[in-house]
Amino acid sequence: MTAPLTIAIDGPAAAGKGTLAKRLAEHYGLPYLDTGLLYRAIGKLASDAGIDLDDAAAVGPIAERLDTSHLDDGSLRGREAGELASRVAVHPQVRSALTAFQRDFAARPEGAVLDGRDIGTVICPNAQVKIFVTASAEVRARRRTDELAAKGRDVTYERILAEVRERDVRDAGRSVAPLKPAADAHLLDTSELDIETAFRAACEIIDRSAA
Ligand code: DC
Repeated sequence: MTAPLTIAIDGPAAAGKGTLAKRLAEHYGLPYLDTGLLYRAIGKLASDAGIDLDDAAAVGPIAERLDTSHLDDGSLRGREAGELASRVAVHPQVRSALTAFQRDFAARPEGAVLDGRDIGTVICPNAQVKIFVTASAEVRARRRTDELAAKGRDVTYERILAEVRERDVRDAGRSVAPLKPAADAHLLDTSELDIETAFRAACEIIDRSAA
């Protein structure tokens, strides 16, 4: 029997982690967890309840009570939920309430693909393969602007670039589990790569590491 394969994908907002992680999960036949959805769900629940997102003591219990079987709500994927998520994700109580669920998912007998900010550093420090997906802030903002424009949204590149930078500062600057590559992560800079090339590069890293 082959050992279960756990793949940790981390990186900043809009680097293409989600698309890549989903394709890798399909390719290797593994279950996939988009951990950003957990933080997005908590941000949205807290905001809908009128809770101050900076109030750790008020947001913590929401994370502890989160029903993880309801993460497929389409509204969680939008820009606004991403912003709410980044704000609640700074609280240690929120992060620790989500740790067991993520680790249990990663420990499935067949293996798993997880994407987020702290998968390789905190959630799965023993993952067989860690990939840190990056791209310059300008490239990420350009991709996100094009994506939103294609959906008919009225957005400007400058506005999106400012949001991307703000999110980077918050995600990388928080004291608990900040966004950073694990010491043993493979860096994959997709600034100059299309999705197909990035996917193939990731498969090469995985096949080499898991061999
Ligand atoms: O990956 P995403 O854009 O859905 O994540 C939204 C926010 O959630 C992100 O800005 C920071 C937070 N997050 C986190 O702190 N840790 C994770 N493992 C995943 C997301």
